[in-house]
Amino acid sequence: MPFTGEHFRSIFAAARTRLRDLLCLPANYRILFMQGGASAQFSLLPLNLLPRDGVADYVESGHWARRAISEARRYGIITVAASGADFGFNRLPDPCSWRLRTDAAYCHITPNETANGLEYPLLPETGEVPLVADMTSSFLSRPFDMTRFGLVYAGAQKNIGPAGLTIVIVREDLLDRARAETPTVFTYRVQAKSDSMVNTPLTYAIYLAGLVFEWLESEGGLVEMARRNGRKSRAVYDEIDRDGFYHCRIPPSHRSRMNVCFGLADPALEERFLSEGASEGLINLKGHNVYGALRASLYNAMPEAGVAALVEFMVQFRQRYG
Ligand SMILES: Cc1ncc(COP(=O)(O)O)c(C=O)c1O
Repeated sequence: MPFTGEHFRSIFAAARTRLRDLLCLPANYRILFMQGGASAQFSLLPLNLLPRDGVADYVESGHWARRAISEARRYGIITVAASGADFGFNRLPDPCSWRLRTDAAYCHITPNETANGLEYPLLPETGEVPLVADMTSSFLSRPFDMTRFGLVYAGAQKNIGPAGLTIVIVREDLLDRARAETPTVFTYRVQAKSDSMVNTPLTYAIYLAGLVFEWLESEGGLVEMARRNGRKSRAVYDEIDRDGFYHCRIPPSHRSRMNVCFGLADPALEERFLSEGASEGLINLKGHNVYGALRASLYNAMPEAGVAALVEFMVQFRQRYG
């Protein structure tokens, strides 16, 4: 099946239209289906949006923001408008303390920090400076207002589809800023012009993403996902907060609904929690290797029954060892 043929084009167009509808995307935003994961965007963003002598603001909120910053620094001057480093990335820097530049080419945030389990309760006001977000781990988990952003990108592997596929949503007026040396297949303007088909796109991944979009639509869209994800994360946080047996270092208003990071008051029990959990089919609960402890990732594909099983196990584990 040639990717330029009618059959694939109709698969592609249906996927893109479904995504546009799910996001209620205004007409002046373009959806690009790119390759290379979110990490490729850490470099492609400055190449496409940051002039050689320009400056970009980044908010350092945790592991992934730091990765984005260190990569962007290879391409230009990056200023850290705010950092949670002083709090061990256990909470977001207070928006009143942010030092946003008015001359920045863009301001980059990571609305959900997958590794340390932080989520922005509110978006910053950046005025004329385009707000850019790495939404890899929160995309499609609830509705969001794209008009607040100049550009949003997301690796597909959490809530979209197979790894490698990367969605970039960009406001049309930002398409013309790429540096001349940006590789053609990674130039947003060129991809926008050619319907993301400068070269062979990730055909099978796009097909699968289209099925995910169709599923989301049939389940009630992003409003329904937000309800479910709210219930799922609340159930786990409620159990964590019940007494001092479990703990979560993140203040409630900054807690992620996608990645619930927690630990046990007695860290020596964490290995036991993981092994006993695994024997009951509760797997992948180990924390990110930078932050350790435990983490329950509750992406859209995790059913509420899976969360109920985890909470039940947490109750029993406390009864055994508390
Ligand atoms: C917030 C965030 N940004 C970037 C990445 C890196 O994504 P990729 O592996 O697609 O490069 C991840 C991966 O989990 C992530 O959670």
